[in-house]
Amino acid sequence: MVHEMRRSDVSGVAEVERLCFSDPWSLETVKDGLESSLDTWLVVEEEGAVLGYCVFRVIAGEGELLRIAVLPAYRGRGLSKKLMDRLVESSIKKGVKSLSLEVRESNKKARNLYRYYGFEEETIRKNYYRNPCENAIIMWNRRI
Ligand SMILES: CC(C)(COP(=O)(O)OP(=O)(O)OC[C@H]1O[C@@H](n2cnc3c(N)ncnc32)[C@H](O)[C@@H]1OP(=O)(O)O)[C@@H](O)C(=O)NCCC(=O)NCCS
Repeated sequence: MVHEMRRSDVSGVAEVERLCFSDPWSLETVKDGLESSLDTWLVVEEEGAVLGYCVFRVIAGEGELLRIAVLPAYRGRGLSKKLMDRLVESSIKKGVKSLSLEVRESNKKARNLYRYYGFEEETIRKNYYRNPCENAIIMWNRRI
């Protein structure tokens, strides 16, 4: 089931961050997300356990996907697609006309997922990421 993040999901989301990223966001950052007026945090859970999440930001009709992650043990089961389906639905409700994101060049899995959702690769930012250093690909879906 996918729903907006609640207070009880915060530690689960922080755990997904810790297990999925080399630069994880802290528990405090995730908790602050509950108060954000710009950001929407969505979690996918089964039997009360957070298995994955995504967060997107909307400013002036433009959306940006900031993070999406699924726990390693639960990948390849369509959970990120459930999150993306809900993200698109929620973006449309908020009047978003276009969505962007940035992704590590080597992250083939995520780039495939984004292409599936109509994102196209528009720009490369050289050596944008640290830990490890890597190019960022900027992708847009301008017809959501
Ligand atoms: C990118 C990421 C979110 C994808 O999550 P996921 O839940 O494994 O993705 P899905 O299961 O929805 O789809 C992945 C693949 O599983 C396949 N799949 C979907 N449903 C399936 C099912 N029921 N059974 C088996 N495979 C399935 C999909 O076809 C897809 O394959 P493809 O990529 O070859 O097309 C995940 O790999 C991740 O958390 N990565 C680390 C964090 C990250 O890099 N995030 C992106 C940058 S912010």
